[in-house]
Amino acid sequence: MSGLVVDDVRVAYGRTEVLFGVSLEVPDGSLVCVMGRNGVGKTTLLNTIAGLLKPQSGSVSFDGSSLAGVGAHQRARLGLGYVPQGHAVFPQLTTRENLQVVMERQGRRARAASLRQQDLDEVLDLFPALTTLMNRPAGLLSGGQAKQLAIARALVTGPRLLVLDEPTEGIQPSIIHEIEDTIAKLHAAIGMTILLVEQYVEFALRLADRYAVLDAGRVVSTGLTSEADPSAFAELMAV
Ligand SMILES: Nc1ncnc2c1ncn2[C@@H]1O[C@H](COP(=O)(O)OP(=O)(O)OP(=O)(O)O)[C@@H](O)[C@H]1O
Ligand SMILES: [Mg+2]
Repeated sequence: MSGLVVDDVRVAYGRTEVLFGVSLEVPDGSLVCVMGRNGVGKTTLLNTIAGLLKPQSGSVSFDGSSLAGVGAHQRARLGLGYVPQGHAVFPQLTTRENLQVVMERQGRRARAASLRQQDLDEVLDLFPALTTLMNRPAGLLSGGQAKQLAIARALVTGPRLLVLDEPTEGIQPSIIHEIEDTIAKLHAAIGMTILLVEQYVEFALRLADRYAVLDAGRVVSTGLTSEADPSAFAELMAV
């Protein structure tokens, strides 16, 4: 299958097992959301997909090829863009420098020719608010602006799969709408494949085609969002 396939992945920190055989598919062109309360293993799953954690067993494959032994940087070069939880920007660098750093890091390797001002302009079209903040240190951006910059940083590398870990966490409602519009645009207009982790159920169900709910390291529910009953998530997601 083209896209991402996670098959029966088990992950532990030392002796503490956190994921107990998780399987998940993100077909090319789809938008899949993983939901679940705090500490159930959502970030662990994404870090395993991104190549930052190694599973004890099971596999992650991308466009039909196994990613076993493929490191995080190499996965990024294969087209896996990752926006980690929290404010994943360099606070001392300006907005522009934050974007340049990732463009240069990618560009030095395989894709020098394809990364140009045009790519940057296309990404900034999605985040007009950032264009007036290009020379501001990222540490002085609001939470919502920093989140937009973190997403823009992943996009300037031209990913084929965008992985987002709780993009609405700690973000004020007006900015949540902007982030939702951006994700919807990436999916609908550009057809980008997206894997989203969210605890904000309504946001996730509005955006995603399919969902999976994690609980204590296991997938306990999956389905089409069009057939999902939002109230059924209350119990699965309650703290
Ligand atoms: N580096 C680590 N070392 C040891 N245990 C960890 C580590 N990171 C996470 N854990 C534990 O693994 C479990 C899953 O954590 P994880 O961060 O994947 O959950 P999560 O679903 O992303 O939570 P949240 O919604 O709070 O972000 C938790 O019990 C957590 O305490
Ligand atoms: Mg997390």
